[in-house]
Amino acid sequence: MNHFVVCRVSGKLVIEAMLFLLVMLLAIPSATVQAQQPALSQAAPSAETIAKGKQNFVTYACYACHGYFGQGAETGPRIDTSRRTLAAFVSFVRKPGRAMPPYRTQSQISDSALAEIYAFLKSVPPPPDPNSIPLLNTK
Ligand code: HEC
Repeated sequence: MNHFVVCRVSGKLVIEAMLFLLVMLLAIPSATVQAQQPALSQAAPSAETIAKGKQNFVTYACYACHGYFGQGAETGPRIDTSRRTLAAFVSFVRKPGRAMPPYRTQSQISDSALAEIYAFLKSVPPPPDPNSIPLLNTK
């Protein structure tokens, strides 16, 4: 009887250990993929990705025309990321076709550097409604 109890307990332990291993094995590939493509994954971007994007925005001179937060200036409009998906954003920068100088090649700016910029711009809070600012609404 004692022997039976030990067997049942250890059998349960073995099953639990196998389940644990299975879960770990399933988790490894997705963790690896995320580690390889932090900027392009669907998950919310990390603080590190956003910080890199902020740096890229200066390194690649975007700030010079669009302002440090893409808020816009006389030299370039406010960048509204809600108007474009990441793919559309990247293709716009590669081929703006209007007043903005094109960044055509990967050596000018890589897709992953642009994805980081996109993540940074998405992290900038939207401007407040002008009607909510008392100073703008005095008569
Ligand atoms: C020399 C000035 C200049 C630089 C540098 C510049 N832009 Fe622009 N950008 C513009 C101007 C002007 C426009 C609007 C006219 C046009 O569509 O070409 C624009 C438009 C855009 C738009 C579309 C805005 C919207 O919301 O519709 C995006 C996105 C953009 N720029 C991203 C970038 C990024 C990212 C960089 C850096 C890699 C960059 N720009 C560098 C001048 C600039």
